[in-house]
Amino acid sequence: MTIRTVETTPFEGQKPGTSGLRKKVTVFQQPHYLENFAQAVFNALEGLADATLVIGGDGRFHNAEAIQTILKMAAANGVGKAVVGQSGLLSTPAASCIIRKRGAFGGLILSASHNPGGPKGDFGIKYNIGNGGPAPEAVTDAIYAETGRLTSYRIAEAPDIDLDSMGEAQLGGMAVEVIDPVADYQALMAELFDFEALRALFAGGFRLRFDAMHAITGPYARAILEGALGAPEGTVVNGEPLPDFGGQHPDPNPVHAKALFDEMFSANAPDMGAASDGDGDRNIVLGRGIYVAPSDSLAVIAANAHLVPGYAGGLAGIARSMPTSRAADRVAEGLGLSCHETPTGWKFFGNLLDAGKATLCGEESAGTGSNHVREKDGLWAVLMWLNIVAARGEPIADIVRGHWQEHGRNYYSRHDYEGLEVAAAEALMNDLRARLDSLAGANFGGLSVALADDFAYEDPVDGSVSKGQGVRICFADGSRIILRMSGTGTEGATLRLYLERFEPDPAKQTQDTQAALTPLIAIADDLAGLKQRTGRQGPSVVS
Ligand code: G1P
Ligand code: ZN
Repeated sequence: MTIRTVETTPFEGQKPGTSGLRKKVTVFQQPHYLENFAQAVFNALEGLADATLVIGGDGRFHNAEAIQTILKMAAANGVGKAVVGQSGLLSTPAASCIIRKRGAFGGLILSASHNPGGPKGDFGIKYNIGNGGPAPEAVTDAIYAETGRLTSYRIAEAPDIDLDSMGEAQLGGMAVEVIDPVADYQALMAELFDFEALRALFAGGFRLRFDAMHAITGPYARAILEGALGAPEGTVVNGEPLPDFGGQHPDPNPVHAKALFDEMFSANAPDMGAASDGDGDRNIVLGRGIYVAPSDSLAVIAANAHLVPGYAGGLAGIARSMPTSRAADRVAEGLGLSCHETPTGWKFFGNLLDAGKATLCGEESAGTGSNHVREKDGLWAVLMWLNIVAARGEPIADIVRGHWQEHGRNYYSRHDYEGLEVAAAEALMNDLRARLDSLAGANFGGLSVALADDFAYEDPVDGSVSKGQGVRICFADGSRIILRMSGTGTEGATLRLYLERFEPDPAKQTQDTQAALTPLIAIADDLAGLKQRTGRQGPSVVS
């Protein structure tokens, strides 16, 4: 094998965020752009020689080319073996599963998650460590430092590897194993869930509509739901992964998964609706005539986990991101478990899971998961709900409403202001931060501020501290207003406003979440000057 050393100069801004390096496809297509970043990863990792790396992506535009480049660079950098999903495909949770199962050194996942794909869409690359989870800040910082100083990269001169056929190949000194992207993941699901009960559920006529949004979950959902569990063919819709996701935005929210929402609120709605995102780590769940907010989903799953074989032994603890509603806290309290509050981003759960301090984790952004892998897992959440429904023999709407009756209801909503001018959004946040001290004890129409701060987190396992994780204003009655800037957008700035109000009394609970939150929405606008400073009359997306 000939190894070529190619001279290069650093690119600005190759800083991996919470979800890796995410940019427009056109940015990744610039000569040396992907190569520089990949070389920075290889430079930053110690002990890569002869190690195994798992490589795969969500199949979006540029996936196939990028994988060939990465394979040739991995071979040139002394990697021992690459385990690649057939056709270069791996969902994010499956990649995490495979890294763990095979004891790999780490993995490279190519995805821009729920962002649009296609030639004008987004692309991304993320490094996961040996526990199967996203690299911690120390590693991403080291990668970023390398991107700023590298002067060359190494790449093997070799023909492309045939990734469409499973089996073993050799790329210079590196072995390449092309594997079934689904098999290891499916085996893990079969260990956790009562597949027999789920087969009986479908055999009894239970109807599910799973919208794979032309993204990576299609093959997984077909194999598991329609294959192993016998759900009727057609249960999985939009099941063919497409490089541009069929021109759709693979983000399972009420805007982009509108067809699913419409169906679930129609007269002939199936028993359950669900969808996942571009790389398969997110999920939404709906029952007939009801959308289960992700924060509620975490709480209901926690309260019912003992009904599912993989969790029958009880939970070690629960963890949720700070902006996620406190519905799960109430369940944890009832079960005598600790509930950890972490900054936004799945990577913060890794240490808690590794240390056995949490079993279930969730984020309000349609992310739910457990200690079975180190990523959030869309299809896992769907199977969790199916298993709970099968065990309880109740419709989803009844399970959720019963939960609110028992534990109280945390009304919750997120308002996104997308594509803002970066300077304006930053000024809004900075001005708000500067006023936090003066808010303590302030009263807004009967709601008094109990705490106003910029969330900081000290990891209970390694002691690392993450500051500036979002402004939170907590009121004496348990209500919260949270504002933070998105770290994953690729156009302008996205400001997220999170609103939460707790209503313990079932007799006072209404169905209309936005109406229940109206007073808080007004306070948030008042405090942050949202309308005036963003120049917007309202948010771009309400979820
Ligand atoms: C968003 C979500 C966050 C999630 C991340 C990666 O990040 O809010 O919960 O972990 O995507 O999927 P944000 O854009 O808010 O920084
Ligand atoms: Zn995702």
